Amino acid sequence: MSDWQIHSWKQFPALQQPDWPDSQALTETCNTLSRYPPLVFAGEVRALKAHLAKVAKGEAFLLQGGDCAESFNDFTANSIRDKLKVLLQMAVILTHGISKPVIKVGRIAGQFAKPRSSPFETQNGVSLPSFRGESVNDPAFTEEARQPDPSRLERAYFQSASTLNLLRAFTHGGFAHLSRVHTWNQDFVANSPQGQRYAHMADEITKSLDFMQAIGLNAMNSPVLNEVEYFTSHEALLLEYETALTRQDSLTGDYYDCSAHMIWIGERTRQPDGAHVEFLRGVKNPLGVKIGPKASVDELIRLCDKLNPLNEPGRLTFIGRFGHDQIARAFPALLRAIRSEGREIIWSCDPMHGNTYTAPTGLKTRALDHILKELQQFIAIMQSENVWPGGVHFELTGDNVTECVGGSHDIREEQLTERYETTCDPRLNAAQSLDVAFLVAEALRGVQIR
Ligand code: PEP
Ligand code: CO
Repeated sequence: MSDWQIHSWKQFPALQQPDWPDSQALTETCNTLSRYPPLVFAGEVRALKAHLAKVAKGEAFLLQGGDCAESFNDFTANSIRDKLKVLLQMAVILTHGISKPVIKVGRIAGQFAKPRSSPFETQNGVSLPSFRGESVNDPAFTEEARQPDPSRLERAYFQSASTLNLLRAFTHGGFAHLSRVHTWNQDFVANSPQGQRYAHMADEITKSLDFMQAIGLNAMNSPVLNEVEYFTSHEALLLEYETALTRQDSLTGDYYDCSAHMIWIGERTRQPDGAHVEFLRGVKNPLGVKIGPKASVDELIRLCDKLNPLNEPGRLTFIGRFGHDQIARAFPALLRAIRSEGREIIWSCDPMHGNTYTAPTGLKTRALDHILKELQQFIAIMQSENVWPGGVHFELTGDNVTECVGGSHDIREEQLTERYETTCDPRLNAAQSLDVAFLVAEALRGVQIR
């Protein structure tokens, strides 16, 4: 790593960076951020990497999920709690189904920057800069709102810190105790078929806990029962921000991007010779890279060479986002090539980003059917190549939104306008999240890797 420096990415093309109108203000904000405390600590990041090494070996499963884009307006204790609840519910469903540890990683406490397909958005003949996430500009469609403003980076930092503080309190203060498995089921989910199925499973877990209590294992003498490990992640898109939060670990001398435990590079910025790859190759966090249907074997090998030159298990996760109609064509050859090269890679499936379409109402949506089809094909392809399907990656929220169609409440395209609240891509609501968790648990139960 001798030729890597914290700023060496500046010598490489950086796509998807905002056009900040005042570069002096940007520099000042980043200088300030670089003096603030880190959001996460190197020791926690190393713990996540060790868990992911288990995923790479087929001994654990990665569950990653949260908002497409966090929002400054949707920032309340209830909304953070409900996102945590739904991820905990999914994790319990998966753990119960596959009898392996499930590593929980939120798209939260830092997911504020968005890459865009087009730098401009046009509405009724008016063209304005695209919304790039609330750490850059505001989603309202006015000239003023769409102006990039670096003071938003600082606001995103403080919102991340505050969100993480509450998540830490919930996950270490008893809320995530398995004895509360029933209370994570929200009222509006409880009456759905999946909510009832969840309640039934929760009964079984409660019985097991009663049994353990009877033989003397309880939260007092087994702290593992009372706490849950929960990690954060986001797309490392804004390189100035990520650089400002990167710290040298005093124990090892290594660099860690302390804005989150795990960070990923998006489909639009994963060029092997680009600035994002250059920056991330120098930090020790576990990394993700989104892989779409146009990726080539050569690109993937170059990404492995740059991002995981020591071929460490747990360092690099490829997050496939092919689309239900592309995965069968595009994925198997990539998987085979990476396997035959002996690369230590976790393959995870993001069944959201290849399945977005515009409904007749003009709203972007995704169909549960397509999401489930992509997940099923992913698991079947992994099984046929004898590689453990390492994880899943979702855009979801704990609220009762109507952004994706289908699922056990059978949301239809005409209903999308009822509660369409995302500032970016359509998310699964809590009931739909349970739908997909049960499906994945069932599909994984049959997987045998030799
Ligand atoms: C995202 O995860 O929100 C995203 C933009 O994904 P991708 O890079 O896969 O398009
Ligand atoms: Co998205």
